[in-house]
Formats: sequence, C-alpha cells, structure tokens
Amino acid sequence: MKAKDSDPEFIATETLIVANIARSVAFYRDVLGATVLREGEPTLLRLKNTWIIINKGGGPTDDKPEVIASPPKDLNTLSSFLNLRVADIDHCYGIWRSRGAQFITEPKIHANEKRCYMRDPDGYLIEVGQTTSTATPLESYRPEVSFARDIRPLFRAVDISHMDPHGIKLDDYTFMSNPDNANKVLTVLSPHDDQPPAMPPGGPYWTADQRALFAQWQSEGYAP
Ligand code: HEM
Repeated sequence: MKAKDSDPEFIATETLIVANIARSVAFYRDVLGATVLREGEPTLLRLKNTWIIINKGGGPTDDKPEVIASPPKDLNTLSSFLNLRVADIDHCYGIWRSRGAQFITEPKIHANEKRCYMRDPDGYLIEVGQTTSTATPLESYRPEVSFARDIRPLFRAVDISHMDPHGIKLDDYTFMSNPDNANKVLTVLSPHDDQPPAMPPGGPYWTADQRALFAQWQSEGYAP
C-alpha cells in the first residue's frame, strides 16, 4: 500500500519480549495507564507519546538467523530500558506503587534528576525520572509539533482575514496540511535572494525559529 504524502516517514516504537503476554499487558495497562490498541501476538499498546509492542519470544527467523527472542535473562545487567520522564516523580511513585508497581528504591536525588526504578513482570527495569536541571522537568521532551497548538497561533487575525479571500486558509488544518499549500506558505514566509519575506507584506517577519518549527511540523507529518 502506498503511503500518503502526509504520512510520517516512520514511527518509533519499543518491542518487549515477555514470558506471558496477558500478564505484561495487565501491567502496562493497569499500572501505567497504557491503552490496548490490538490484542494477540503481538499486542500493541499506546503509552503516552509512544507505542509498546508486546510479544512472546522465539526464533531465530530468516532475517536474524542467530538471534533468539527472550525475556531478560540477567536481571542485573542493564542494556536498554523504558525511561519514563515525569513531571512529578513523588506523585507517580505513589500512584504506581498503589497499583502494584514494584520499585527497587524510593526516588533518589541525583545531580540532574530525581530518579527511581521499577521492574515489570518479566523483570525489565523501567526508569522513572524527573529532570531537575531544566526550568521545567519535561521541556527537553517536546511532543511532535501540532498545528493547533504550535502553528495556528503563529498567524495573526490580520494574516488570516487578508488571506482568506484569496483562498489561502491559514487557520484551516485541511488546507494547511496539504503539502503544496504548506510549501507555498513557507516560501512566502522565508527571505529569498537577499530580499525580506514576501509575507506578511512589510513584516513583522517570522523568525528563523518559527520557520524551523513550521518545517519540523511538515517533516513530522503535519500533526493536527
Ligand atoms: C501562499 C502564500 C501567500 C500568497 C500567494 C499571498 C498573497 C498575498 C497578496 C496577493 C496580498 C495582497 C492583496 C491583499 O492585501 O488582499 C497579500 C496580503 C497580505 N498577506 Fe499574504 N499571501 C500568502 C501568504 C501569507 C502568509 C503566510 C501571511 C502571514 C503569515 C500573509 C499575510 C498577509 C497580510 C497581513 C496581507 C495584507 C497586507 C496589507 O494589506 O497591509 N500572507 N497576500
């Protein structure tokens, strides 16, 4: 099947190989609040901004002939792990414990974060951390750029009202998420040949950061 132009180039997910799919799904759903999107082998969960694929072990397969998929064998050697960055670690620690999460210790204070670890039913370690080195804990982990939240507010009422009669619907997601329209808009917002941007006529012109945000919104697949 062909991807639509507006489809993102790819999505990042995490796959967990588990001993008992139902037991793991119950943990990620009931303790951490994940949503089950598809049941079976594999099971697909949405956890906040990401997806977790849960499957049983096995193999090898023809595309990884020397690899066996298995739950962790050595629980005390850490290689790759789910890292939940939280706004308020004491709150999360309390809630998740009350739902049955097993933490190794209570949250501990470190140079740049307050942090603790829990284990899922297979023993996978899950880090829970509240960053303390930035003004707010989650600011380094921005979700994808969204039209409603990030892009639409960059247009002023005067921009929208002047362009609307020309059929350029700056406040309309359907219009703006058409790549041809979005490209034209970004072109007129950008300086060219040492000339200031064509739009808005006479300024105030968008900053390089604002144009970069717009381009990021495009490259991430035009999130609403
Ligand atoms: C697809 C791209 C665009 C085209 C082809 C375009 C074209 C034009 C044209 C021909 C005019 C003059 C006619 C009029 O005043 O009604 C105009 C005016 C204006 N445009 Fe655009 N525009 C585009 C995008 C934008 C964008 C992205 C903004 C703002 C972010 C913008 C803001 C304005 C404003 C504020 C005026 C009125 C200026 C004034 O009368 O003082 N336009 N545009």
